[in-house]
Amino acid sequence: MGHNIFTGSLVFLDRFAGEHVVANQHMLISGETGSGKSVTARLITLLELDLNTKAAYIDPDGEYVYYTEKLGGQVITLMPGRFSGMNILDVEPETIKENGRKTERVNLQEKTAEVVDLIAAVMRYYSGQGLDMRQAALLEEAVMEEYREREITEDPESLYSGGVKKTMPTLSDVQKRLAQKAGMEALADAIKPLLAGGSIGMFDGQTTVKLKDVPIICFNLKQVQSDFARFVASYASLAWLWQKFAQRGGKSIKKSVNIDEAWMFLKHPDVAKYLEVLARRGRKHGCALTVITQRFEEFTHTPSGRAIIDSCATILVLKQEEHAADAAVEYFNLASGCRDLLAKAGPGMGILRTSGITSAVQVSPAPFEWPLVETKVVGT
Ligand SMILES: Nc1ncnc2c1ncn2[C@@H]1O[C@H](COP(=O)(O)OP(=O)(O)OP(=O)(O)O)[C@@H](O)[C@H]1O
Ligand SMILES: [Mg+2]
Repeated sequence: MGHNIFTGSLVFLDRFAGEHVVANQHMLISGETGSGKSVTARLITLLELDLNTKAAYIDPDGEYVYYTEKLGGQVITLMPGRFSGMNILDVEPETIKENGRKTERVNLQEKTAEVVDLIAAVMRYYSGQGLDMRQAALLEEAVMEEYREREITEDPESLYSGGVKKTMPTLSDVQKRLAQKAGMEALADAIKPLLAGGSIGMFDGQTTVKLKDVPIICFNLKQVQSDFARFVASYASLAWLWQKFAQRGGKSIKKSVNIDEAWMFLKHPDVAKYLEVLARRGRKHGCALTVITQRFEEFTHTPSGRAIIDSCATILVLKQEEHAADAAVEYFNLASGCRDLLAKAGPGMGILRTSGITSAVQVSPAPFEWPLVETKVVGT
């Protein structure tokens, strides 16, 4: 990915090398604006694609759309008030190991919990309070009744009728059912913005986006500007990535989930929770988390933020503002000489630490890689 700025020797990074080499696959890339974080992330993904790794990006600024398209990937553009093509209630069979044997099962319980969690998170965002026990119980009941009505069970066969996938329940169906339950009218009203046509109705409809077997998926959030819509979009995207991407194929498929401008996601504890889940449990599923952020210090202020960055066995610290350079040297326990290097570094220059080795590196894409990895923001 570059060279050592003192010795000139080439620097290779293989964060999937295995626990005997590097404790986990997670990586933090931090640096001030323009320090080369996104270029580095794209270069690392490009190099990892050669090792048969699949990548997913959460892209708040539309900086990975061109790149994803050029590499034959899939871009999912989220827009407030517009259906994303992803039905949050859609279920698919997953492979589980039972008594050493692999079986297929539809995990209705996890899906139900995910829908209840999303609505609880939305309520917390509105009012600072989630759902009370009765609300959570009746909401769960409403979701389960929707599956039951369609005779959808844990059996994968139950998803089909006459060889065709059944129509899945949607948030609208759940909301209607909830509204009929005694005392649930207010909650049913409160979730109306999540329904088709509502300001955050991005996930209410029958699935049209199929996860293709492509090297990269990019969730483009550029058009999702309001804090609330961004919160819902990032929450739902991360939930989807955790369930459908990160755990897919287990350890045998190497994957990375890359979150640019990750400091933004920390603002909401419910969203930060998913980053933490990816950091804590991703390793078991062969999934790397790449946290790309301007403000690493914000991560050090919350237990959840610290858990996320402390779980990154590989860190790349690029140019920092003076005070942040001091903080980085202290937090990552770097040699004092790193401070000046970080404060004066040019784009792509910084300190890389992995498997106990710290080096001063210049990330240097090859000339033929530049057109792909250079930062290009597209209009959509
Ligand atoms: N390794 C590198 N070598 C030379 N130039 C680089 C390198 N990395 C980045 N640059 C230059 O710096 C510019 C900014 O890089 P990049 O978009 O990756 O910054 P960033 O840290 O992601 O900034 P922001 O926080 O604003 O998103 C690039 O357009 C490129 O011209
Ligand atoms: Mg960037």
